[in-house]
Amino acid sequence: MALTKLLKRFHIKIVVLHFNLHGLIKILDKTFEVFIESEELQREIQSLAKEINAVYKGKDVVFLAVLNGAFMFTADLMKKIDLDCEISFIKMSSYHGTQSTGTVEELIGLRTDISGKHVVIIEDIVDTGITIDKIITLLDNYKPESVAICTLLFKPDAFQGNKKPDFVGFAIPNAFVVGYGLDYNEHGRNLNTIYQIRNEY
Ligand code: IMP
Repeated sequence: MALTKLLKRFHIKIVVLHFNLHGLIKILDKTFEVFIESEELQREIQSLAKEINAVYKGKDVVFLAVLNGAFMFTADLMKKIDLDCEISFIKMSSYHGTQSTGTVEELIGLRTDISGKHVVIIEDIVDTGITIDKIITLLDNYKPESVAICTLLFKPDAFQGNKKPDFVGFAIPNAFVVGYGLDYNEHGRNLNTIYQIRNEY
């Protein structure tokens, strides 16, 4: 019995190792391959922070991180920001109104007064740009001095929005990615590396 358990454990370890050697992981029903390693992410975040520190030096700045995806990026970015700033976490929530007006979009979690302040929205990814457009429209009601977007990932080929991100970590092809906050059906957010979906032939 103990030997079977041991062999089983040993076998599982070999399978995991096999996957790691090829940089592949399986999340639910999909296979993903390594796309951006942790060291490369950290290098780019350092350089984004340097840029932001220079642009907002001496200004009244509020960072608004968009949950859930941006939580890991925000934590690493903010450790490298040396400005006297405020940080808040927001979320877009949609629900069906009582009238036949379709879906209503609501910004939740905005507790900070942003009027007259410089706002930097922190996103994990800008894909079509629809989410960010909606956030900017809702934020405009609070009369901020300026609004900029800082995103770790940007898919230029998918973008249809009105405002391009101001600070971009990586411009990437139009393929699904996961890890470092980004999910596939709520799985994979905890990964330290970004993985890209693998085409299965
Ligand atoms: P939008 O298309 O720019 O509005 O992006 C909407 C949201 O879709 C993003 O904030 C992400 O949460 C999610 N998303 C877009 N592309 C990906 C991806 O490749 N992986 C995981 N989530 C994504």
